[in-house]
Amino acid sequence: MKRIAIFASGSGSNAEQIASYFADSTDVDVSLIVSNNAKAGVIDRARRLHIPVLLFDRKTFYETDRITQLLQKQAIDLIVLAGFMWLMPGDLVRAFPDRIINIHPALLPKFGGKGMYGHFVHEAVVAAGETESGITIHYVNERYDEGQIIFQASCPVVATDTPEDVARKIQVLEHMHYPRIVADVLKNID
Ligand code: GAR
Repeated sequence: MKRIAIFASGSGSNAEQIASYFADSTDVDVSLIVSNNAKAGVIDRARRLHIPVLLFDRKTFYETDRITQLLQKQAIDLIVLAGFMWLMPGDLVRAFPDRIINIHPALLPKFGGKGMYGHFVHEAVVAAGETESGITIHYVNERYDEGQIIFQASCPVVATDTPEDVARKIQVLEHMHYPRIVADVLKNID
C-alpha cells in the first residue's frame, strides 16, 4: 500500500477529489491531510472523509524538522500539494526527492513564482489578455513553481472572461486530471 500526504491551505476541493478517487483503492491510501491553516475548508473535508489532519505553524515548518520526521515515521511515499501556499523547506525537499508534486493553476513557466497563486493567477491571466490558460502538475524543488513538469492541460480564455470564469475552467481541469496523474506518479515509485 502506497501512502500519500496531501498538503492544503484552502478550500481543499482538489484534496477531496484525490481522496475520493482513492477511497476504494487497495493500492493507495490518503493517510494524512497536512495544513498550515486551522480555518481552511480542507480541515472540515478531512473530518468528513475520516482522514487524520496534521496542523502546524510557520515556526515549526521552517525552524524544525518535525514535519519531515513525522512524514518519514508515517512511511509517506508521496507528498501531494493541493493549494498549499508556503514554499517547501529544503530539508523536506531533500528528504523526499522526486516525491513531492504540486498543481499550479496556469501554464508554467508563465504566471508562476512568489505571489502567483490562486485567484491572483487568474487575475494576471485576464489582465495580460491571454487567449488560453491551463494547469501544470510538476515536481517540487526549493523554488516556487520551477520543478520538472509532469503534465499540462489547457483551456481557452475569451475576451469576456472574468478571473472567476477562468477559475471555474481551471478547477474543472484540475479535478479531471490531478487524481489520475497522482496515480501515474505513484506507479513509478517503488
Ligand atoms: C488550485 O487552483 C491550485 O491550483 C492552486 O490553489 C487552488 C486550490 O484549490 N494552487 C496554487 O495556486 C499554488 N501555487 P482547492 O483548495 O479548491 O483545491
